[in-house]
Amino acid sequence: MDAAGLRARCAADIEARGDGAYFSGQPWLREAFLAVPREEFVPERVWWAHPRTDGLYHVIDRADRPRAWLKAVYLPLAALITQIADGRIRPEDGPTARADFTSSLSCPAVVVDMLHHLDLRPGDRVLEVGTGSGYNTALLTRRAGRVVSVEIDPRLAARAAATLHRLGHAPQPLVMCADGEQGHAAGAPYDRILSTAAVRAIPPAWPRQARTGGVIVTPLATPFASDALCRLECDGRGGATGTLIKSVRFMKTRGQRAEVPFAALGWTPAAAAVAPGRPWADYTVTVSTSGRQRVCVRSEVVSTPGRPG
Ligand SMILES: C[S@@+](CC[C@H](N)C(=O)[O-])C[C@H]1O[C@@H](n2cnc3c(N)ncnc32)[C@H](O)[C@@H]1O
Repeated sequence: MDAAGLRARCAADIEARGDGAYFSGQPWLREAFLAVPREEFVPERVWWAHPRTDGLYHVIDRADRPRAWLKAVYLPLAALITQIADGRIRPEDGPTARADFTSSLSCPAVVVDMLHHLDLRPGDRVLEVGTGSGYNTALLTRRAGRVVSVEIDPRLAARAAATLHRLGHAPQPLVMCADGEQGHAAGAPYDRILSTAAVRAIPPAWPRQARTGGVIVTPLATPFASDALCRLECDGRGGATGTLIKSVRFMKTRGQRAEVPFAALGWTPAAAAVAPGRPWADYTVTVSTSGRQRVCVRSEVVSTPGRPG
């Protein structure tokens, strides 16, 4: 099967999943997925994200195994690792035991689900944090009016900018090499902010650079077994409020790799307590205008109306 056939099959597989919103109600997203050649964004050598029985992460080399490489590009649940240890481990050095992944192309199904929750409208101004390969950026350009994408790694930013330029994506996104936790004030206010790296605390710059009613979608670290997708609506004064949506796993932003006690990240004891079966939607996340994060469970919000964050 050629790339277009694999892409169509991947879209159908994503659509058939019952655990997310994916393309539902957003025909533009399906069209974008089918139109953007993901294989153009994937490096010739990537690491498979799961170790083999030898405990090592193996490289899929397009030159050696072109069919396996292309198949991997279009597996709905396969993340492809493109960088380890900020580039200190190179794919040409062969299999590695190092699991400190620092860049990847996220699974197609997760990419689609995050874009679904971002709820892009035509013409939106978008800030993307974590350009990586530029694949997600390309999808954003199919709907948004203006896309600013910020990547902290200079080699990744340059490669993504070159790929997007070569494929002629219009409107041409602005790819910046910078710390996306600071946003990009010159392009603000944004209608939508999407981070494809997880944070432990929502960077205050994001709600400050969003317009009233603007939406932030980001993976947020939780005290549980995974990160969770978080969707916030911004008040236009630097504050934001929203909920968690579903379990995801992402690498952390460079500045938030170090673990921090959840109490120091604003998680109330009730929210941080493991409650088996509690839906993600029961967790409320607020960022005050001063930038302080608070994560509580819904019952606490109801019992403390109007309490400042
Ligand atoms: C999961 S990858 C992004 C995948 C990407 N959206 C794609 O389609 O290929 C996360 C990216 O976030 C970048 N990153 C980490 N911390 C960052 C920061 N503070 N600012 C901007 N980018 C950051 C990493 O270098 C990495 O490329």
